[in-house]
Amino acid sequence: GGPGLLAGKTVLITAGPTREAVDPVRYLSNRSSGRMGFAIAEAAARAGAKVLLVSGPVSLSTPPGVERVDVESARQMQEAVMTLAPNADVFIAAAAVADYRPAETAERKLKKDSGDELAGMKLVENPDILAGVAAMKKDRPFTVGFAAETNDVEANARKKLEKKQLDLIAANQVGADRGFDRDDNELLLLDAKGSTPLGAGSKRELAGKLLAVIADRIQ
Ligand code: C5P
Repeated sequence: GGPGLLAGKTVLITAGPTREAVDPVRYLSNRSSGRMGFAIAEAAARAGAKVLLVSGPVSLSTPPGVERVDVESARQMQEAVMTLAPNADVFIAAAAVADYRPAETAERKLKKDSGDELAGMKLVENPDILAGVAAMKKDRPFTVGFAAETNDVEANARKKLEKKQLDLIAANQVGADRGFDRDDNELLLLDAKGSTPLGAGSKRELAGKLLAVIADRIQ
């Protein structure tokens, strides 16, 4: 981090899980706590940036100086992000967006014996928000993704960097006792030029280091 490092810059961040409604009482989601994205938002604000945080449902308080937009579903997150992205210098996708959503959301609570409506629920793929920003033709921000991998971390993350056309990707290993819903993490940064290990540390420390690298790249 460091005060002033991102002065005059606008940083747009996604954080947390998304919730994909099945019916008025049920949803599909995941275990993301939002802590990595919120730590980045806090560090970016401390570094002097204007910070826009688009958050899925989390139980975290908004860091000082951060403008927060709350959303539930991936499609709501995409709409908020695509509205804000043209004004951002940097986009960091730290959200754990649900890969699929129910093809239809029932207006009334589905009954357990609803036949195929629950047991045979059809799913459709959600939009890739990060790839959408990376593909912007005009006013494209410096675009940073995360890759949570259980194995072959570097190779899988590099594939994502290239496939989604990112400027930078932060890779980490996830599994039984790492990654999600924890205070610490270990990140490896990859870009076209090579790899930069940030080591292990608290999400707060890693957020500062990540932003220092980004600040350097966008100078
Ligand atoms: O492909 P995968 O889901 O592993 O990619 C992870 C990265 O892509 C993260 O930065 C995540 O925030 C972003 N992502 C997204 N929209 C999706 C899926 C992933 O922005 N629908």
